[in-house]
Amino acid sequence: MESILFVCLGNICRSPTARVVFDHRLQQAGLELLTDSAGTTGYHVGAPPDARAVQAARSRGLDLSGERARQVAVEDFTRFEQIYVMDRSNLRVLQDMRPAHATARVDLLMSLVPDYGLEEVPDPYYGADDGFRQVLDMLETAADRLVESLVARPQP
Ligand code: 4NP
Repeated sequence: MESILFVCLGNICRSPTARVVFDHRLQQAGLELLTDSAGTTGYHVGAPPDARAVQAARSRGLDLSGERARQVAVEDFTRFEQIYVMDRSNLRVLQDMRPAHATARVDLLMSLVPDYGLEEVPDPYYGADDGFRQVLDMLETAADRLVESLVARPQP
């Protein structure tokens, strides 16, 4: 796998956090992948991540401050090899916009961890701060699982 796009609704909470969590874990493992994040909506285009997401990530040593929101584009279906969405609603939006020539696989992010017991990364936007910690726990578990599978991969 060479490139991953993370997608949520607003691109200010879950998916920019996912991008930074995965980048950090991949880098620690010496793996170089192209990553980015986007939202299914354009409500927050150009905005930095939500201050609560920035703070929660900072408490785990991760810097979200350089991320800026953008909306997912048709080109993303050929630019990225894998698109991971946070929930079923994101999945439906992408299935509807998927062009005929798309090459990207689109999956729920938590399909990386089928034994976790939650299929969707819950939207923390309207909830309490522990929602952001739960999102980080889920993303870190998923990132570890991806890194394990990439490291275990037979070398070409
Ligand atoms: P995200 O969270 O999809 O994880 O970035 C949300 C951000 C903004 C909104 C909803 C969810 N909103 O309705 O503005």
